[in-house]
Amino acid sequence: MASPTDTAEGAPRGQERPVAEEHRRGDETREAVIRGRGLTVGFGGPPVLENLDIDVWRGEILGVVGGSGTGKSVLLRTIIGLNRRQAGRVEIFDQDLDTLTPAARRRIGQRWGVLFQQGALFSSLTVLQNVAVPIREHLRLSDTLSDDLARLKIELVGLPAEAATKYPSELSGGMIKRAALARALALDPDIVFLDEPTAGLDPIGAANFDLLIRQLRDTLGLTVFMVTHDLDSLVTMTDRIVVLGNRKVLVDGTFRELRDVDHPWIQEYFNGIRASHYDLDKMETA
Ligand SMILES: Nc1ncnc2c1ncn2[C@@H]1O[C@H](COP(=O)(O)OP(=O)(O)OP(=O)(O)O)[C@@H](O)[C@H]1O
Ligand SMILES: [Mg+2]
Repeated sequence: MASPTDTAEGAPRGQERPVAEEHRRGDETREAVIRGRGLTVGFGGPPVLENLDIDVWRGEILGVVGGSGTGKSVLLRTIIGLNRRQAGRVEIFDQDLDTLTPAARRRIGQRWGVLFQQGALFSSLTVLQNVAVPIREHLRLSDTLSDDLARLKIELVGLPAEAATKYPSELSGGMIKRAALARALALDPDIVFLDEPTAGLDPIGAANFDLLIRQLRDTLGLTVFMVTHDLDSLVTMTDRIVVLGNRKVLVDGTFRELRDVDHPWIQEYFNGIRASHYDLDKMETA
C-alpha cells in the first residue's frame, strides 16, 4: 500500500524520474500505463481535484472509490482529456497528452475505450450502428467490414446476434451496458475506462458483467480503470483500489489493506454494515 503523498520513487514532487521505465515495488515489476501528476481541476469554484497524483499499472483492474461528488468521474474525464486541468500533467503510454500533435493525439486516443456513467449509447442508432461509430471514425474500412467488425465485438461481450438490430430503448439495462462495452472495445484498446459499469444491474447481471470484464482483462491483457460503488465488484474484481477524498487520492491498496486504514470514511466504507459481510479469508480459500 502506498501513501499518495509519496511519489512512486519516493522523490519530491517535480523530481520524478521520466515515465518510460518500470517501477519496482517489493519484488514486483510494474509499468505505469497512466501517470497523473499534480492534477488540479475545477469549474470556477473551489477545485474538485487539487494536486492529485495517480498511477495505473499495466494489466491491473484498478477500482476507484470515493463519496458521491468527490470527483471520480471528473478524474476519469481529466485523464482522457475531456476536462481541462488548471495544473498538472497526464502521461499515457509515456506520452504527455498536452505535447502531442492532433494526429498523434487521435492515434493514442484509439488505445483506450470508455464506458461513461451517463449516456452510454446513442438512442437513435441501433446497437450495431453504435458499435460501428468508432470503427467508421478511425478505421478506413468498407461499410461491410465495419459492420462485420462491430458484430464480432457484439459477440465478444456476450450479446445475442439479434441484439445488433435493436435500439437502446429495446434493450435491458444489462444489455445496454454490454453494448456500450462492445463500443468501448471496438478499436481493440489497451485500456478501458468504466464509470459505474454495474450500477442499476441486478446482482446476477452485475456479477456476470464483472466476470466478463475479468475475462477480457485476462484474455486481451486490458488495463481496467473502474469507478464503482459496487462492493462485490471491488472485492471480487480489483487488484488495487484508489480512494478519492479531500480533492486527492487519500490512499491506495487492496480491499484487505484498506480495511486497516485509520480514516473515518474508509472505515465506514470498507468495514461498515455492508462491507463487514465479506469474509476475505473464506473467499480466498473457497
Ligand atoms: N462539467 C462540470 N461543470 C461544473 N461542475 C462539474 C462538472 N463536472 C463535474 N462537476 C462537479 O464536480 C464535482 C465532482 O463530480 P463527479 O461527477 O466527478 O463526482 P463523482 O465522484 O463521480 O460522483 P458520483 O459518485 O455521484 O458519480 C461535483 O461537485 C460536480 O458537480
Ligand atoms: Mg461519477
